[in-house]
Amino acid sequence: MASEESELRFHHGSYPSLFENYPMDRVILVYSVLHNTLTRTPLTNYMGTGSMVWRNLGYGGGCMDVFEAIAGRRSIRKFTPDPVKEEDLRRILDTARLAPSGTNQQPWHFLVVRDADLLERLAKVVKDKAEVVLAHMSDEQRKRAEPILRRFVTFFAQAPVTIFPLIEPYGSLTYKQGEIIGQDYDPVAQSIGAAIQNLHLAAFALGYGTCWMTGPLIAREEMEELLGVEPPWKLAAVIPLGRPAKVPGPRPRKSLDEISTFIDPDS
Ligand SMILES: Cc1cc2nc3c(=O)[nH]c(=O)nc-3n(C[C@H](O)[C@H](O)[C@H](O)COP(=O)(O)O)c2cc1C
Repeated sequence: MASEESELRFHHGSYPSLFENYPMDRVILVYSVLHNTLTRTPLTNYMGTGSMVWRNLGYGGGCMDVFEAIAGRRSIRKFTPDPVKEEDLRRILDTARLAPSGTNQQPWHFLVVRDADLLERLAKVVKDKAEVVLAHMSDEQRKRAEPILRRFVTFFAQAPVTIFPLIEPYGSLTYKQGEIIGQDYDPVAQSIGAAIQNLHLAAFALGYGTCWMTGPLIAREEMEELLGVEPPWKLAAVIPLGRPAKVPGPRPRKSLDEISTFIDPDS
């Protein structure tokens, strides 16, 4: 992974003077070759934010605006053993703290696990539960589910840090008032979603990788027991955090037309 000192950040008009008179695509090509040769980390291209920005930090890192962070973040499933700096960890968690929440209830708590042995034990209960789930499936179902359960639910144990967000669910003491006035849109789920997304974007902006995981919750009760989670608190997700060892390409997204409808006065 390239160090922070080796950051290259070009905007139109602000790339190194050596390349001032070269077309942008040539500059990028030169840096791509240099970058791949020297650091073997991918060059990241952030487009569509009004300016073209290239970084050779490998993944995120440095100063970026919110549009760049949203466009550049990926789900990371392989991590280097490098530790997460304490100050970075606190900064990332602080963005979750600042997220909006229904009636500002902040119905969350974040368990931060850096104990590799505990992470292994947590992954083991998930793996065991996956076997139980698979055993109850038809051959057809198992064929589809097995690769997913084997590859996508236990890798959090390989990260140097895993964050376990807890929620105080709707209907518990804090949200009793919601129950009385009949809210059925689960403000807690929406609030924790906002907090988790903040956390992901902040981690990316600091050069770390994360993956939002709910697959491991097949063993929610077993994990809660290992983590000492007491009712009414519940485990909401699992978020491994570390320097990415592998950055996948962007996953496809539906088009804006497909996911949006404008309702104007004259429509
Ligand atoms: C609520 C939620 C649950 C997810 N659970 C898992 C999971 O258990 N395991 C996993 O590998 N990825 C999980 N993901 C990551 C998605 O697979 C990923 O966000 C999606 O494929 C898009 O890829 P991207 O995040 O790289 O853009 C989850 C994402 C969300 C938002």
